[in-house]
Amino acid sequence: MSVSVAVFSAKPYDQRFLQATVPDSLSLSFYDMPLNHVSALMAADSPIVSAFVNDEIDAKTLQILAENGTRLLALRCAGTNQVDLTAAKTFGIRVVNVPAYSPYAVAEHTIALMLSLSRHLPRAYNRVRDGNFSLDGLLGFDFHGKQAGVIGGGHIGELVAHRLKAFGCEVKVYDPYRQQALNDAGLATADLDTVLQESNIISLHCPLTEETRHLIDSAAIQKMRQGVMLINTSRGGLLDTAAVLEAIKSHQIGYLGIDVYEQEGSLFFEDHSADIIQDDVFQRLLMFPNVMVTGHQGYFTREALQHITDTTFESIDDFLHQRPLKHQVV
Ligand code: NAI
Repeated sequence: MSVSVAVFSAKPYDQRFLQATVPDSLSLSFYDMPLNHVSALMAADSPIVSAFVNDEIDAKTLQILAENGTRLLALRCAGTNQVDLTAAKTFGIRVVNVPAYSPYAVAEHTIALMLSLSRHLPRAYNRVRDGNFSLDGLLGFDFHGKQAGVIGGGHIGELVAHRLKAFGCEVKVYDPYRQQALNDAGLATADLDTVLQESNIISLHCPLTEETRHLIDSAAIQKMRQGVMLINTSRGGLLDTAAVLEAIKSHQIGYLGIDVYEQEGSLFFEDHSADIIQDDVFQRLLMFPNVMVTGHQGYFTREALQHITDTTFESIDDFLHQRPLKHQVV
């Protein structure tokens, strides 16, 4: 008999990748909705549940899952800030994630945001389609010779740093936990204030934790160079978005590129094109000519989706055969 796996936040592309290689031993039930304390009941009698980045896996959700027999939560993402890990332990649910499913995908998207902003590609694209070949307002800058700061030098941050070096930037990385490893990889490191004060381009690649929430607030922004380019493809909560908005209005921040947003849970991954979006801060951000927002698509490449699929099935197989879980989150 096959084992039931309830898959939440399952978009058509997720379903396509998972169905293509699902082992006979598993039976997948797909739910488009996120996992939360309401939808958790759908997973009744599924010993294995799979969820994604913006699901709300709090103590209440986990209790409902546990009471209905769930024993493994297989996250199809790297970040775990959406899960109450203490509650998961209390309720006897083991949690696995997919670490570093394609750091290349996110690093490349980060660079795409940087270049698109510096060369005003969205405006240029729209202009040319409208038969307007004027260059007024499209003046860019060379990356060569600029100071770039990377905050968080893990899998993604390290790749971004190397790519910026290849452009001829002088790169400094701030990561309190990987300084030696980064130096060994040929990257210069610096403290946070140095990175904030010296960089023309700042890119965030650290996880969202209590320590890093609103790492970029008004005090941090004041330390930055006027006209700085700020890029966040990590987690929305790293930015105090209201402070960033004010800094764009005062020209302290010259360019903002974000693939993540603090309140993205109610917006991203869905089509809201016919809705009246209620989030005024987000709507205001979209209006600025020097802001580019993408909807958490940094990870979204074929290679990453395949890796997510393979790792998820591998973890489930290990769980079912009572082998150690390589990607258990504790
Ligand atoms: P990682 O765990 O390899 O690297 C994170 C690095 O941040 C570590 O080296 C850690 O030492 C460092 N760090 C921790 N606290 C710090 C602090 N206070 N200040 C500076 N550095 C700190 O993670 P990875 O794979 O590089 O991912 C980075 C982030 O990217 C993830 O946490 C996730 O939030 C985000 N992400 C975004 C995706 C997207 O589609 N936009 C997809 C995948 C990940």
